Amino acid sequence: MNEKDKRNVVAIYFSGTGNTKYCVHMLMQELGVQSEIYSIEEGEAVDAIKRYKNLIFAYPIQYSNLPEIVREFIIANAELWNGKNIFILATMGAFSGDGAGLSARLFRKYGAVVTGGLHIKMPDSVADVKALKKPDKENRELVRRANEKLKQVAVKLKQGKIPKDGLSIWHHVAGLFGQRLYFYNKTRKSKDRLKIDRTKCVGCGECVEHCPKNNLVLREKKAQAKGDCTMCYRCINRCPVQAITLLGDKVICQGVIENYLEENERV
Ligand SMILES: Cc1cc2nc3c(=O)[nH]c(=O)nc-3n(C[C@H](O)[C@H](O)[C@H](O)COP(=O)(O)O)c2cc1C
Repeated sequence: MNEKDKRNVVAIYFSGTGNTKYCVHMLMQELGVQSEIYSIEEGEAVDAIKRYKNLIFAYPIQYSNLPEIVREFIIANAELWNGKNIFILATMGAFSGDGAGLSARLFRKYGAVVTGGLHIKMPDSVADVKALKKPDKENRELVRRANEKLKQVAVKLKQGKIPKDGLSIWHHVAGLFGQRLYFYNKTRKSKDRLKIDRTKCVGCGECVEHCPKNNLVLREKKAQAKGDCTMCYRCINRCPVQAITLLGDKVICQGVIENYLEENERV
C-alpha cells in the first residue's frame, strides 16, 4: 500500500454499542490507513462519502437484517453510491448468513461496486434476552479473536486477497432461511416497542443524549419514547438503572464494548 492509497479510503459505520466502531478502527489501524472514519450519525459522513471513491461501510446485524437506521441512510443517500468501491464489514453475535450481502444488494442497485465482505463475531448486544448471553470473560475472548481475525484480514487485503463473506447466493439463502423469514419484519414491527419503566427511570437523560434516532425525550423528568426505535440497544445497555427494555421484560446483562477492553485498547 503506497502513501496515496493510505488516504484513499474513508470508513463509514453505524454502531449501537460500540462493537462495529471498534472493528472499523482496528481494521483501519491494521491496514495502516491514516484516513477519516465517521459514524452515519455525524453530519460529516455524507460529505466524506462524496470526496472518496473507496469506502469501508460497517454495521451490526439485527435478526439477519440491516438496522433500520442503516437502511434509511443508504436509501436517503442513494445518489452517492454510484461508481464507489465499497468493502462491507458486518458484526454479529453469532450468525447472520448474508450480513454483508444485505447492504451489498442495495449498494449495487445504486451503482456501486462491492469489492468484498467481512463478518466479525462480537459480543451480543441484546441485553434483555438470555439466549446469546455470555460471561464477560468469554466476551473478552471473543473480542480478542475478532482482533486476530482483523489483523489477518488486513494482511490479506494488503496482498490483494479480498474476503467475500456474506456475498454469495449461498449466503443469501442461509440468511433468508436461517433467520430472516422467521424474524421477517421484526426490526420494523419493533419500532414502537421500547418499554421504559417509569418507576425506575431517574430522568438522567443518558438515553435521550445517546439515541441515534432522537427517539427519546424527557417529559416530567422521565424518559419517553416517540416510536422510532432502530433497535440498536444503546440506551438499554447504557441506562444506569436498567429501566429500558425492548424484546425482553428485564435487563439481564448490560454490555458495551468498553467493558471488554483495557483502558489503552479503547477507540
Ligand atoms: C435487535 C438485535 C438483533 C440482533 N440479531 C442478531 C442476529 O440475527 N444474528 C447475530 O449474529 N447477531 C445479532 N445481534 C447481535 C449484534 O449483531 C452484535 O452484538 C453486534 O456486534 C452489535 O454491534 P454494535 O455494538 O456495533 O451495535 C443482534 C443485536 C440486536 C440489538
